[in-house]
Amino acid sequence: MKHFISVKDVASVESLVRLAAGFKAAPLKDQQVGQGKILGLLFMNPSLRTRISTQVAAKNLGMEVIVFNADKDGWQLEFGDGVIMNGNTTEHVKEAAAVLGQYVDILGVRSFPGLNDKEKDYSEYIIKSFIRYSGVPVVSLESATLHPLQSLADILTMTELKPEGRKPKVVMTWAPHVKALPQAVPNSFAEWVNAWGEADFVIAHPKGYELDEKFTGRATITNNQDEALKDADFIYVKNWSSYTDYGKILNTDPSWMITAEKIKLSRQAGVMHCLPVRRNVVIADEVLDGPNSVVITQAGNRVWAAQAVLYEILKNI
Ligand code: CP
Repeated sequence: MKHFISVKDVASVESLVRLAAGFKAAPLKDQQVGQGKILGLLFMNPSLRTRISTQVAAKNLGMEVIVFNADKDGWQLEFGDGVIMNGNTTEHVKEAAAVLGQYVDILGVRSFPGLNDKEKDYSEYIIKSFIRYSGVPVVSLESATLHPLQSLADILTMTELKPEGRKPKVVMTWAPHVKALPQAVPNSFAEWVNAWGEADFVIAHPKGYELDEKFTGRATITNNQDEALKDADFIYVKNWSSYTDYGKILNTDPSWMITAEKIKLSRQAGVMHCLPVRRNVVIADEVLDGPNSVVITQAGNRVWAAQAVLYEILKNI
């Protein structure tokens, strides 16, 4: 593996999940692989899980880690070509990425979308600039449109908890939220579930929340949440802002929140969320505090997902 930006960078989802499960069983079994190597983690936005789990993963492989909060501690970056930099931006990504590439062996980058300009966000110009100018392998810590480390942990979680002898029914459902959120997690979850190929996959959302078909692929799509939840083995809950009416909140209908009543429609489904989650807006307390919630296992699996990805990249440098 050279870079890790999307599922397209993965030769076999099944093999990568097996590798991650192996690290979960024996976290320190490959402590020599990263000796003498440095991982840089560049955050342009907040993070709890990605920040800590990726550090733990790197340390398990013997790597040193440097975390840089570019949004707070760095110079404001310019990404435009040929720009006269007489405004607010102080450093061009051409220098910043190239300099970081002199210091670290692998570079992780987190950069959320602006949610104003769909074409610009979906061009993934930020993470692509770091790939282009850093000269080192780049790992997405969540980009404008995708969150592949999260998705790998999600697939690992479902692999561990899925029913024996049949394909699980996986339902990704939109839920309300007070803020406009990116489409990165649902886009990514959809493309990973499709690549995994081990699920009957349904996506439920109100009208106007259609995701890019490039990611949803062959999923069944419905505007009827109750119908979708029937016989579900996993309910993946997530808010996202509109892709078609880009970045807008079109609906805050509280009846889309996941409650204990809704779980009754399912086959005692495992309830998943990438976190952070707004309690009693997205998912009710009774669900998050109840036996169906697997969100802590899911977050724990972020370590093994990151470790598998770093291991695959370290093999090639
Ligand atoms: N799920 C996730 O990426 O969490 P953080 O934003 O806290 O890293």
